[in-house]
Amino acid sequence: MSNSFGERFKILTFGESHGKAMGVIMEGVRPGMDFDLEAIQKELDRRRPGQSPLVSPRPEKDRVEVLSGVFEGKTLGTPICLVIPSKHQDTKAYEDLREVFRPGHAGYAVLKKYGIRDYRGGGRFSGRETVSWVAAGALAKGELAKEGILITAFTREIDGVTAQRVDFKEIEKNPLRCPDREAAKEMEKRVLFHKSQGDSIGGIVEIVARNVPPGLGDPVFKKLDAEIAWALMSIGAVKAVEIGSGFQAAYMPGSEHNDQMDRHGFKTNHAGGILGGISTGEEIRARIAVKPTPSIEKEQETIDVFGRERRISIRGRHDPCICPRIVPVAEAMIALVLYEALLRQRNLLEEKDNLERFREEIDTIDRQLIELVATRNEISQEIGQYKRERGIDIRDQKREIEMIDRRIQWGKSLGIDAKQIRQIFDIILRVSREIQQKRKSPSA
Ligand SMILES: Cc1cc2nc3c(=O)[nH]c(=O)nc-3n(C[C@H](O)[C@H](O)[C@H](O)COP(=O)(O)O)c2cc1C
Repeated sequence: MSNSFGERFKILTFGESHGKAMGVIMEGVRPGMDFDLEAIQKELDRRRPGQSPLVSPRPEKDRVEVLSGVFEGKTLGTPICLVIPSKHQDTKAYEDLREVFRPGHAGYAVLKKYGIRDYRGGGRFSGRETVSWVAAGALAKGELAKEGILITAFTREIDGVTAQRVDFKEIEKNPLRCPDREAAKEMEKRVLFHKSQGDSIGGIVEIVARNVPPGLGDPVFKKLDAEIAWALMSIGAVKAVEIGSGFQAAYMPGSEHNDQMDRHGFKTNHAGGILGGISTGEEIRARIAVKPTPSIEKEQETIDVFGRERRISIRGRHDPCICPRIVPVAEAMIALVLYEALLRQRNLLEEKDNLERFREEIDTIDRQLIELVATRNEISQEIGQYKRERGIDIRDQKREIEMIDRRIQWGKSLGIDAKQIRQIFDIILRVSREIQQKRKSPSA
């Protein structure tokens, strides 16, 4: 089913833009953990619309409510259900879109696939869907932070204006979420210009994950870079994902692209912190190409559900540039991927630990067995001596059969297969005979 993500920390999201609420059910959260609702709300506040003229003016407060899985501030280990009620659905603005397809939006493909669609605000294909991703991602982010893993995204480029410097402290100080204050001012002008033209503009968002331990990612089909690309491409309006040097790698010779190493570690990071689908311990760096918002006022050609040609100008409440709103979403998606990979790696290490423990136990048992065999051999030697002194035959076949039968009975009471007992005691009795036949050496 395509509405869930993750295996060990699994989320299932639901809701449509103009429905009653958006929401997420999270499974795989350990019991007894502090549940930080404030941290979740903080992330939702970063994503919500209406924060500046550079984003959609839909005045949703996005207050998160907990429906299940939390008791007295602690997780119960049961599914956690969070809902974010929608309070400001402006359905009237979408009446014109009941029959007409918005160029660049999902409506046409959705109708072809399902034969039905909620045209209001794009239904499930609205940017609003990502509110529940951010809620779940906040929990994953919190868990990763406990391991020192920090994820930061920012707007790198809009309309040809590129952030030249990356000052993380600057990101939340400007509405573009750009880490370069000067570039942010220029970006703002460009976005407002396109908005004034009834148009929109795209850009590039970059994501950095720091302190990621080496070893995360599971080749071959759960490579970390593959999962990151999957997660980021799941975000609406994302058209491309690059890891590390990305497409630039295609233009570099190996001698330049290879991240050489010295005793301090990697000297460069063209790999973007991932080799062979596994984290190297270097910063993980990804970039996404965000397309210009499809809904624009500028008149465009389209068709309606009956195939008639129409012209369309979209009013309503839209982001003139989606980049600043995608920043918290991209962080959430990377958090979900890294948390999942971390849980998988923990499991692998635990398996290794268990295997080592089991092996140690087997060693102990085998040592005890060998000690018992040594004692048994000594007794066999005494028996051999005894029999020889009295002229008794070493081999007593009848007794051997009785012995094996008795041992099979003992084994049976412990659930051991008769064949296994027979094989073991065939060897033991044969060795015992050989020992009994041998005279003790004078030195013994
Ligand atoms: C956070 C966020 C906000 C968005 N805001 C808008 C918007 O205001 N208007 C719009 O037409 N599309 C918006 N989109 C983009 C559409 O959801 C997206 O283009 C559409 O679902 C089609 O999917 P695709 O672009 O991935 O093919 C937004 C996407 C995200 C992630």
